[in-house]
Amino acid sequence: MKFFQHFKPIFISLSPNTEKDDIFLALKLIFKLKVWKRGEKIKEFEEEFRKYLGVKHVITFNSGRSAFLAILKSLGLKKGEEILLQAFTCNAAVNSIIWSGLKPVFVDIDETLNLNPKDLKRKITEQSRVVMIQHTFGHSAKLDEILKICKENNLVLIEDCAHSLGVTYKGKKIGTFGEGSFFSFGRDKIISSVYGGIAVTNNDVLAKKIEDFQEKIDFPSNFWIFQQLLHPVLTNYLIIPLYSFFELGRWVLLAFQKLKILSKAVHKKEKQGKKPSYIPKKIPNALAFLALYQFKKLNKFNTHRKEIARFYDKNLKDLRFVLPKKHPERTYMRYSILIENYDTDEILKQARKQKIFLDDGWRKTPIVPPDTDQGKMGYTFGTCPQAEKVAKSILNLPIHINISKKDAQRITKFIITK
Ligand SMILES: Cc1ncc(COP(=O)(O)O)c(C=O)c1O
Repeated sequence: MKFFQHFKPIFISLSPNTEKDDIFLALKLIFKLKVWKRGEKIKEFEEEFRKYLGVKHVITFNSGRSAFLAILKSLGLKKGEEILLQAFTCNAAVNSIIWSGLKPVFVDIDETLNLNPKDLKRKITEQSRVVMIQHTFGHSAKLDEILKICKENNLVLIEDCAHSLGVTYKGKKIGTFGEGSFFSFGRDKIISSVYGGIAVTNNDVLAKKIEDFQEKIDFPSNFWIFQQLLHPVLTNYLIIPLYSFFELGRWVLLAFQKLKILSKAVHKKEKQGKKPSYIPKKIPNALAFLALYQFKKLNKFNTHRKEIARFYDKNLKDLRFVLPKKHPERTYMRYSILIENYDTDEILKQARKQKIFLDDGWRKTPIVPPDTDQGKMGYTFGTCPQAEKVAKSILNLPIHINISKKDAQRITKFIITK
């Protein structure tokens, strides 16, 4: 048993939040084709989410990027107007801006890996209309300063809460500060339905426009829904276990993705700034069911993340690595360390030999994943030096519900010996 424990593959992504009951639910839903698209779970999930955040309107979509696209399309902006957002972000956030005919303008990051208010001031132009903040990896952005800048410059604040469900700032829930905000329930987010997202606002006029947008779009195809329902089942019961045998799991995963049996988090088109056919779409009932089921575990998940974070804090504090500053009200979608003057590729390679898989794609380039065409995202190298530096030195550690103290021990032991 101890021998097996040592070689148990540890993953930062793939299907991090799924427990046995979530997998069982997905499996059960595979056989309930009749309720894949329409059903009562969509409204139920929206209502629970609305009550939790204490907001007036929530509108579900099949992803965070669909929700963001709907918000942008509903703001009445003109082609070419500018959206300020931080570098060290995901191409999914940038693409919604590009697909709306708007222009992303990148702002450098601060010591919390969030949008730097000082650089924000420098990047505002006559064309600036929206500031989007990210709350990176569950750490809130500097809201007081940013809200003040938005007010002084007549800019709309939108919150990207893809990483920060359950986070507060001075006691108030993240996602309730902006004119609008959105959350993601992607495969490796705070809670997960493999694909899923929600737009949030207290503004009745904006809500009506987002609802109109949502009404006009379709549900994704049955085949797409099937792919998402299969994801937790195949990753947990086939792919991850097969990683124990010469990384066989990797080849099986690649084969399933190639054969379109499983989806990818980001389509290869998106890395070139192009839109895949399944964006934007409504959330299907089956995925709303998975999201609602996970939503009920939110406190449990975030409490666990904090416990593992305390363990990492304690065990990594004597090292020469930089730990980004921490806000007491934060959660942890990832636990980040910055390893300067080291080749992080080499560290990932060494970790893989010990069956610790730490590559979550959040590294190397200001717009992730690293094989994203930075030019097509509108990013010019040199404009956000801190984001570029962080991307080169960051190493994210897993912290999700399937990481036990023993796993965390194995990870810290590996890091310490590097
Ligand atoms: C910061 C950030 N914003 C937005 C998104 C988009 O979310 P989704 O994958 O649900 O479209 C993601 C995840 O991909 C993200 O990491």
